[in-house]
Amino acid sequence: MKRRLLLWPRSLGGRTALVLLISLTLVQVAGLAIHALDRRDALRFAQLRDVAVRAASIYRTIALADPDNRVGVVRAIDAREGGTAVSLDDGPPVSALPPAFPELQRLLRVNMLLVPMPPALRPRAFVWLGEPAARQMLIGMQMPDGLWVNVRLPLAPARWFLSGTFLAAFLLMTAAAGGLTLWAVRRLTRPVATLAAAAERLGRDVNAAPLPEDGPEEIAKAAAAFNTMAARIRRFLADRNFMLAAIGHDLRTPITRLKLRAEFIEDEELRRKTLADLDELEAMVAATLAFGRETLSDEAPAPLDLAELLRTLLDEAADAWPEAAERCTYRGPDHLTVSARPLALKRALTNLVGNAVKYGGGARITLLPAGQARMPGGMVTVLVEDDGPGIDPEETERVFQPFVRLEASRNRETGGVGLGLTIARNILRAHGGDAVIAPRAGGGTRATATLPA
Ligand SMILES: Nc1ncnc2c1ncn2[C@@H]1O[C@H](COP(=O)(O)OP(=O)(O)O)[C@@H](O)[C@H]1O
Ligand SMILES: [Mg+2]
Repeated sequence: MKRRLLLWPRSLGGRTALVLLISLTLVQVAGLAIHALDRRDALRFAQLRDVAVRAASIYRTIALADPDNRVGVVRAIDAREGGTAVSLDDGPPVSALPPAFPELQRLLRVNMLLVPMPPALRPRAFVWLGEPAARQMLIGMQMPDGLWVNVRLPLAPARWFLSGTFLAAFLLMTAAAGGLTLWAVRRLTRPVATLAAAAERLGRDVNAAPLPEDGPEEIAKAAAAFNTMAARIRRFLADRNFMLAAIGHDLRTPITRLKLRAEFIEDEELRRKTLADLDELEAMVAATLAFGRETLSDEAPAPLDLAELLRTLLDEAADAWPEAAERCTYRGPDHLTVSARPLALKRALTNLVGNAVKYGGGARITLLPAGQARMPGGMVTVLVEDDGPGIDPEETERVFQPFVRLEASRNRETGGVGLGLTIARNILRAHGGDAVIAPRAGGGTRATATLPA
């Protein structure tokens, strides 16, 4: 057996859906990443601008304050604004933080210009230390009188990924796209299942209805090809059966003529043997004709009670062979419905029961519903058993060939021509089942017929 990848679905629909869903997820993740990076940049910029604006406004408050009162103002701001530290120093801020990017420096300068204040009070120099990853910024602004206003501002971590609405929209989109994908894939792959079902049906019934030739172009083409193939098979079978019937029919006249002529044979023994052979020949031709007619018939399958049918067959067998009546028994459910061509199925089972009675002196029928028998694939099983001489294991296949009769039965004048098992198997196989025959362990024979449930 081929090794299977774990989680790799078996069905075409499952595989297509999986591939589509994986690509969909990849696209979504890529889109999400682009969106998130974009959002992070925008948020960062907004935060940094906010930092610049706050630093500028703090500077302005201090620069505008009365020089004697400055220390008080600085303390007040320091205490008021949580997380923000303001101090008035002789020099720029000292820290291990690296200087901010030139763009940030420019951002601060621009915001400083936007703050209204007398030009004389504007800062003489700036120092901006820090980077977003460090979560804090140090900004030093030198006042005209040489003192530095140093501000330490915290930088909140950018919550750039999970916003509630965004997540909801993302999930909704994924669910909708996933659902749509599954629906579309299932729709697109359904015709494949239909085709498989049709092929299966054709195997059981060559007269099954053709497939509708519609849908997508490829599917319609496949359906048309399938229908053409089915029609060819039907024609081939019809031709074969027609030929069989014609040969059978045309042989009857010469046989009749031969029989008439044989009556004039002088030698008594020779005449008897010739006439017996001709009788057998005639019976074979008649059986062949019947067989041909049967396979040509297009009897429709219908639900029928198999248990009922089997009991009827036993009654009929007991009537025809009264001496075997008490060895004809039925075991199984009272009713069991199967779908089958009634006349054909009856004919097949009659042959099996007839053989058991004729060659085994009685028929023990056991009906096993699907799942109970040790038969694969949920088949309904009919066992026809007898206590007769049994059958040579070497012959169990050969007896299904047309006109094969084992030596023992030839001498018994049972009247058969050797087509019974051929016909039974033919009919059961046409139903999707089978017929086999085998010797029983304790002596006797067991014929097994199976039918789809
Ligand atoms: N239950 C059975 N027990 C013994 N032999 C059997 C049994 N069923 C079939 N056979 C053998 O298989 C041969 C073929 O059977 P069949 O095709 O029904 O032809 P027919 O009954 O006309 O001889 C029989 O002639 C017989 O020798
Ligand atoms: Mg028979």
